[in-house]
Amino acid sequence: MAFLPSPPMAVAFRLKIGILLGLLFGQAQSARLYTEEDPVVILSSDSLKQSVFNSSSAWLLQFYSSWCGHCIQYSATWKALAGDVKDWAQAIRIGVLDCAHEKNFDICKEFGIHFYPTFRYIKAHDTTNDYGKTYHGADRELQTVRQLMVNFLQNHTKQDWPVGCPPLDPARSEDILSLMGKKTEFYTAVIVEDKDSYIGREVILDLLPYEGLAVKRTLSSDKLLMEELGITSVPSVYLFHPNGTHTIMNVQKRLRFFFSSFLKLLPGVHRKQSTSSLQRPQPGNNGQGTQVEWKVFEKSKVYMADLESGLHYLLRVELATHKTLEGEELKTFKDFVTVVAKLFPGRQSVVKLLETLLEWLVSLPLEKIPYDAILDLVNNKMRISGLYLSEQVQWVGCQGSSVALRGYPCSLWTLFHVLTVQAASRPDALANTGFEDDPLAVLQTMRRYIGTFFGCQECGKHFEEMAQESVNQVKTVDEAVLWLWRKHNQVNARLAGSMSEDPMFPKTQWPTPDLCPTCHEEQEGLHVWNEQMVLAFLKQHYGASNISLKYSSNSQPEPGPPAPDKPKAITKPNNGHLNQNLKPSPDSIPKHQKRTEISGAGEKLTGVQIEARPGMTFLGLGFSSLDMSLCVLLYTLSCVFLMFMFFFFRSKRWKARNYRPYV
Ligand SMILES: Cc1cc2nc3c(=O)[nH]c(=O)nc-3n(C[C@H](O)[C@H](O)[C@H](O)COP(=O)(O)OP(=O)(O)OC[C@H]3O[C@@H](n4cnc5c(N)ncnc54)[C@H](O)[C@@H]3O)c2cc1C
Ligand SMILES: *[C@@H]1O[C@H](CO)[C@@H](O)[C@H](O)[C@H]1NC(C)=O
Ligand SMILES: *[C@@H]1O[C@H](CO)[C@@H](O)[C@H](O)[C@H]1NC(C)=O
Ligand SMILES: *[C@@H]1O[C@H](CO)[C@@H](O)[C@H](O)[C@H]1NC(C)=O
Ligand SMILES: *[C@@H]1O[C@H](CO)[C@@H](O)[C@H](O)[C@H]1NC(C)=O
Repeated sequence: MAFLPSPPMAVAFRLKIGILLGLLFGQAQSARLYTEEDPVVILSSDSLKQSVFNSSSAWLLQFYSSWCGHCIQYSATWKALAGDVKDWAQAIRIGVLDCAHEKNFDICKEFGIHFYPTFRYIKAHDTTNDYGKTYHGADRELQTVRQLMVNFLQNHTKQDWPVGCPPLDPARSEDILSLMGKKTEFYTAVIVEDKDSYIGREVILDLLPYEGLAVKRTLSSDKLLMEELGITSVPSVYLFHPNGTHTIMNVQKRLRFFFSSFLKLLPGVHRKQSTSSLQRPQPGNNGQGTQVEWKVFEKSKVYMADLESGLHYLLRVELATHKTLEGEELKTFKDFVTVVAKLFPGRQSVVKLLETLLEWLVSLPLEKIPYDAILDLVNNKMRISGLYLSEQVQWVGCQGSSVALRGYPCSLWTLFHVLTVQAASRPDALANTGFEDDPLAVLQTMRRYIGTFFGCQECGKHFEEMAQESVNQVKTVDEAVLWLWRKHNQVNARLAGSMSEDPMFPKTQWPTPDLCPTCHEEQEGLHVWNEQMVLAFLKQHYGASNISLKYSSNSQPEPGPPAPDKPKAITKPNNGHLNQNLKPSPDSIPKHQKRTEISGAGEKLTGVQIEARPGMTFLGLGFSSLDMSLCVLLYTLSCVFLMFMFFFFRSKRWKARNYRPYV
């Protein structure tokens, strides 16, 4: 006996090993098990007591040690749990504290943490400072712990009930029946379930951060109520509408995720916003007094108007903030045009415009291209018949409830989803472009476009991080479709409840069960995707035959006498059409008025031609600034001239060739 360490000594011993190992690996590796990106609250000696004692919510804490193998394995479950109950935070929060971190040694000792991991739950409004209650259950599966959280919440008394937590006990049948035929300001959803089912309570907690509805539960043992509502099987959700009508809610699968998703998607139900963004403009009002007509659309469709408006913005505004393109930027632009020209399942006039642009870019041996020259082409200054990209911004599926929301970034996601699906369904489309047989063609091009040109820099950084982490695991075109879908959902999860979320279009994990019921499954109490079904769905949803031309502009101007230049369409990007943080600053938008004169003069200046081709290395060798600007001017003119020559011959060739039928 004498040689066996007594318990306190064992603790000290373990601590010492902890310190040693911590010093050896912990600091050096510093690969923490949990990061700010995870939905858990990372606590330390500075914040633990302040956060968990006398808190408005209850807490479930995991004291772990970063060197304990089991903790490392368990961290995936804990993160999944925290993500699963993220919306419960007003009632109960999930925290972690690393006892192997030097600065936490004392606090772990004070809390009496002897083994890792140790789970403690602490009631809301707890001022006893008794370090909480330890969970000793052997089963640490996600579903078990989640149900424990519900039980623990229900163990609160009226006095210490968490401030943001609605009642979890079954509602009285009188209260439910009295709702019949009554007009109210919000929905009431009643979940009818068996006594030991957790779905009702879980859905109540899932909807905690949402306003516009109340969720209650009742038991199937209440025969009178079951009869009155006509419910024959449980669990079921009965819905009382604000207008006084009531119906049973139809869901394809009786799972928590389906119930919660359907309720979150009811019109008028949205995530509560921080007070600063509470004044919510009405749909159709762009906040500047002018009414934009609301366009009715189906969310099961993709709209060409969104894709074309996005391309218009990308080509005429976002890229136009770059005076010239060269080097990597030029390469990125070329690749982008290649991918879009070959894969975009658009209208003939747009596809032809893109193909022309591509042909021009490929055949011109320029190392540096003034963007104005590209703009002239995009605006079809050559007046080649059949090339046209509308200058109208017309958001349909990407409409926002206010002009600062959705719009361009939404169209960009949509465009790239469409492109990945095209790449997967038309394997030969990229033949002879240098991208053939490259399953990553679209993703890498998107990645470089977003990183180089996308006006929202933060978005670009986040996207680059995601790409670095996993894009190389993509081995087939199908995996590329799924990769983009997965990353988009990751972005949605991060942005849910943030300022850039449109309250009318809450960020959800997409496709929601109403769009694709077979995409969703449940395994051991956790929602999982059926990725095979998701892939099939994405291919159908973003497929060429699902792109609607409704609301697409038809006003294609006839080629003919030069129309007066309309620079205002370009130089005045209506700020409102963009997500606020994506707006380029007004002075970075180039002035295009000059363009007409330059291109008009181009024909006279036949002499300058290609001299300037090898870039502008000759600049700066003792030229005055006047010389320099002359050089730049000549250079620009020669580019424009080249373009003219190009089109002169190209359009001749074209006439001889048959038009490709619209795909
Ligand atoms: C690459 C990229 C990175 C971004 N990063 C940020 C950022 O870091 N911070 C920020 O504030 N904003 C970011 N944004 C903008 C943000 O993602 C949204 O585009 C914007 O807030 C508008 O949201 P939305 O409601 O229109 O839906 P969006 O997220 O733009 O989605 C558009 C449409 O695509 C469909 N969809 C939704 N999810 C998926 C999915 N998983 N797979 C396939 N289709 C789907 C839906 O029909 C949806 O309406 C980024 C945009 C892009 C293109
Ligand atoms: C607990 O918090 C409430 C308000 O949040 C405060 O009034 C009260 O004094 C606090 N109690 C203790 C013991 O700190
Ligand atoms: C709830 O309270 C009961 C009675 O005090 C107790 O036995 C049970 O362990 C508690 N459950 C939880 C999860 O705290
Ligand atoms: C009440 O609203 C629902 C949709 O919320 C609608 O389907 C129903 O027709 C409306 N009933 C009446 C009487 O207005
Ligand atoms: C369009 O996509 C939806 C899914 O959003 C799908 O149900 C529908 O069948 C598709 N339509 C066509 C014509 O492919």
